[in-house]
Amino acid sequence: MHKVMIISGAGLSAESGISTFRDSDGLWENYDVMTVCSTQGWMQDRQLVTDFYNARREDLEDKKPNAMHRALAALEEKYPDQIIHLTQNVDNLLEKAGAKEVLHLHGTLTDLRCEECHQTFYVGYRAQKEDEQCPHCGSYSVRHNVVMFGESAPMYQHIYRAIDESDLFIAIGTSGQVIDIVALVQEFEHSILVNPKQERHTTGFGDFEKNIDAYFEHFIQAKATDAVDEMLEYIEEHLGR
Ligand code: APR
Repeated sequence: MHKVMIISGAGLSAESGISTFRDSDGLWENYDVMTVCSTQGWMQDRQLVTDFYNARREDLEDKKPNAMHRALAALEEKYPDQIIHLTQNVDNLLEKAGAKEVLHLHGTLTDLRCEECHQTFYVGYRAQKEDEQCPHCGSYSVRHNVVMFGESAPMYQHIYRAIDESDLFIAIGTSGQVIDIVALVQEFEHSILVNPKQERHTTGFGDFEKNIDAYFEHFIQAKATDAVDEMLEYIEEHLGR
């Protein structure tokens, strides 16, 4: 049975009004990404980071899924068990579009995580309370449920399983700076890249650059919402093989 592995990034939600990380020179809503996305920044100023995620969470409430979110949710429904969607995004727009099995590699904005028992709990769009208490173990040591640079990302284990099980790889709206989509795509005979930009890929030697799209079978150089029809055509053709 054919299976499709999808890795999506911030570009998937850009047209829904959620800022990407690197299109605005490393600023995420005017904060230096490394300040609010790293354990260093977290240790230096927990309140600043908590305020940042509270603002992101509240900002998410009125954001709507776009045509690509809806297409991906419909694909999951049409081909149950044949789509493995791993997203780097912490927003819930795929879920708002009806997707049920999205794997959030970097966590989720609408949940908090207990630093004692490490379990998460849903809070929706509200700010974390000063005296937020873990409903599972009662601890008051609670934080945002977003994976930061410098800490482990347990969900990455799903990447390796997906590579083994899938025969079509699709990367949508990601610069490849964190998840190395160039390393991943070389495991596949069939692949699709969706990005309006030609991102450069610097090999480990640093001096040799190639466009990421040169590694993909199909490159749809377009914004996510303009790439839906062409992408679906390739997928239907592949799954119908
Ligand atoms: N449609 C598709 N792609 C788009 C669009 C769009 N409308 N607009 C921008 N893009 C592309 C950009 O060209 C860029 O290649 O989306 C990509 C966004 O790249 P990043 O901002 O680096 O986001 P991402 O790849 O998801 O970052 C990965 O880095 O900061 C960490 O944990 C954070 O999950 C994040 C990870």
